[in-house]
Amino acid sequence: MKKTLIIANWKMHFNTHQASIYLSRLNRITSIHRNLEVVLAPTFLSLGQLAQEVDPRKFKLAAQNAYFKDEGAYTGEVSFSMLQGIVKYVIIGHSERRIYFNEDLPMIRDKVAAAYRNKLIPILCIGETKAERLANETKRVIHDQLTTALANLTSEEVRTIVIAYEPIWAISTFEGDIAKPQEIQKVIDYISYQISELYGSRVAQDVQIIYGGSVNSSSITSYLALDNCQGSLVGGASLNYEEFANIINKAYLLRK
Ligand code: PGA
Repeated sequence: MKKTLIIANWKMHFNTHQASIYLSRLNRITSIHRNLEVVLAPTFLSLGQLAQEVDPRKFKLAAQNAYFKDEGAYTGEVSFSMLQGIVKYVIIGHSERRIYFNEDLPMIRDKVAAAYRNKLIPILCIGETKAERLANETKRVIHDQLTTALANLTSEEVRTIVIAYEPIWAISTFEGDIAKPQEIQKVIDYISYQISELYGSRVAQDVQIIYGGSVNSSSITSYLALDNCQGSLVGGASLNYEEFANIINKAYLLRK
């Protein structure tokens, strides 16, 4: 069984100094848990510094994005190849990248391929908008996002991918549309089914599916208790190190 993944997606928060202070505080109040992998995803700017400060037995690092070309005249971009040796994971296709930075399906497919080319593990985010959900299009959207992103990958590559199901309507809405665990279960099952259709059931069993969308220390247990939900991508609630430590502890209690 793979380790449960608890990932802090800090988005565009914390300068390098703040990131460093957060890390030392979180480090002080957490211990190493055999069945958990705790991952921090700071901005590019803080990655180098955190890579030097982090205890790699306790925390892994992820980038929030990268560009699919390995080098060249692409002003403002950072490549997957530059992240080698610094991060283990790269978040790809987060809905905020799709929405605000116009990342389309082919670009996300190219980024997934670039991650594997550079020996990094993609955390592929997929999920439907509120309008798509209301129009009963969730399955079609998930199908299209998955089949495009996984195109051209070998079974061995797909086996190691992390798929984060993040319904867009449930992201950062702590007081609004909280996703009901039963509803999430249906989509997790569908993702697993789709992967087995594409790559066979043995590969599908190995793929790690996690949930993200307004998860906090009160709700984490109900999502991790779902069948085949093997972790969580936490945004807002990860910005407070004590709250994030509570999330880690809840996950630990479930998996110890
Ligand atoms: P949230 O963000 O926990 O603030 O909803 C999750 C994400 O966008 O990855």
